[in-house]
Amino acid sequence: SFANTHITIDTTKSGPVINKNIYGQFAEHLGRGIYEGLWVGPESGIPNTRGWRNDVVGALKDINVPLVRWPGGCFADEYHWRDGIGPRDQRPVKVNTNWGGVEEDNAVGTHEFFDLVEILGAEAYVNGNLGTGTPQEMAEWLEYMTAEGKSTLAELRRKNGRDKPFQVQYFAIGNEAWGCGGNMTPEYYTNLYNHYATFLKAPAHNAPKLIASGGHTEDTSWAAHLTANVKPNWSLKMDAVSFHYYTLPTGKWDKKGAAIGFPEAEWMSTLVNTLRMDDFIVNNKKVMDKNDPEKKVGFYVDEWGTWYDVEAGENPGFLYQQNSLRDAVVAALNFNIFHKHADRVHMTNIAQMVNVLQAMILTDKEKMILTPTYYAYKMYVPFQDATSLPVSLKKVSQYRLGKSSVPAISASAARGKDGKVYLALVNANPNQAETVALALPGVTASGVSGQLLTATAMDAHNTFANPNAIKPVSYSAKAVNGKLSLELPAKSVVVVAVE
Ligand code: AHR
Repeated sequence: SFANTHITIDTTKSGPVINKNIYGQFAEHLGRGIYEGLWVGPESGIPNTRGWRNDVVGALKDINVPLVRWPGGCFADEYHWRDGIGPRDQRPVKVNTNWGGVEEDNAVGTHEFFDLVEILGAEAYVNGNLGTGTPQEMAEWLEYMTAEGKSTLAELRRKNGRDKPFQVQYFAIGNEAWGCGGNMTPEYYTNLYNHYATFLKAPAHNAPKLIASGGHTEDTSWAAHLTANVKPNWSLKMDAVSFHYYTLPTGKWDKKGAAIGFPEAEWMSTLVNTLRMDDFIVNNKKVMDKNDPEKKVGFYVDEWGTWYDVEAGENPGFLYQQNSLRDAVVAALNFNIFHKHADRVHMTNIAQMVNVLQAMILTDKEKMILTPTYYAYKMYVPFQDATSLPVSLKKVSQYRLGKSSVPAISASAARGKDGKVYLALVNANPNQAETVALALPGVTASGVSGQLLTATAMDAHNTFANPNAIKPVSYSAKAVNGKLSLELPAKSVVVVAVE
């Protein structure tokens, strides 16, 4: 049959492992992201486990959340960990100055956060306060979480109900140091990084990977400066440099574009802006390869996702937005980019897990809906810790609108932990179905089967009144005379296993 795009998967060569933490999440004290969205408190009528909502946590378990970053974001650089320990009714109430100026009663603190990640079976990524904290406060937080003996801080942790140390897999020294984290230069921040990191000590078998706060968008100076100037020795290390990039449909912060009801021009510009992620990673990798050819330092995209204009009637500081088929396409395009760079990109965190920006889940009191982005994560679960396989694309048709043009098809393949070959495909063209001819030299494939996410409208989305308007359906294709060809509907995401 006629095929627009030819895809070949080379199953004889394997690339880097796709770290499961590429599918990491981010939960900040922001809007209804934690309070209401995840945490309702043990006294709530909404069914919960020690305060964490059972419905939301259950849904998150189904997408295998591997890692959660907490407590921010901008919030992290004004967070003082001692406010969040001890009896909840005695914790101080603060103002959340970054996000809407609302009261922060510190009901969720260190112990509650670790309860959540332990329920989820996820790893913990704690973001330390560099902006308004001290090296002492940061060092003591790490000691509080990880100390084993009878130190005052370990005893305080025990008094607060936790005997065993918490497992802290990742710890970041500040967030967006170039902006809300203190408006610093890379030079100034790098000196502070070295200063703070000197004092971060934990038992060797529970020492977190340390993350430096890096750049954003096209700026590579942070990755360059940090990898050139942090000189690891016995007490100092830097396991990764972070990076942030958000997809704004218009590319402009004052008028970003709407989450739903947008014109096709904004479908297109959203694709164009999303695909820039690839260049940003490529350029950062270039500067890192120069200073760190052995690839010891990771490049963690610990904030990414769509950022739209806030909906009318919503608190502008809460960053609540709807989530449509377009968001699922954005997620899948990013996953395919991250897989391609799995040699450096060992972690990414979509912003954010619940009720904030490009969320997996939206809640309204006791109700919950799963977004198209949630389903993209679910479909891509087999890629967690899979081994990437080289994919070549030929004769890729272009999707064009006005002066813009992007490849219609994006693809990624890997060998899953179960030994099967998985293929993820995106057809970004909202108007035209595409046919893909799939070849796996040396492999006799009888077909493919998996899931398809698509809809008639570009902005198809779930609502509390209609929670199942868009969700994946099963998808399969059979080889005919030894040839495999896949029909991809317009604006679709497909993940299949080769059989
Ligand atoms: O995710 C929302 C905010 O975006 C984060 O707090 C901050 O780091 C970034 O500017």
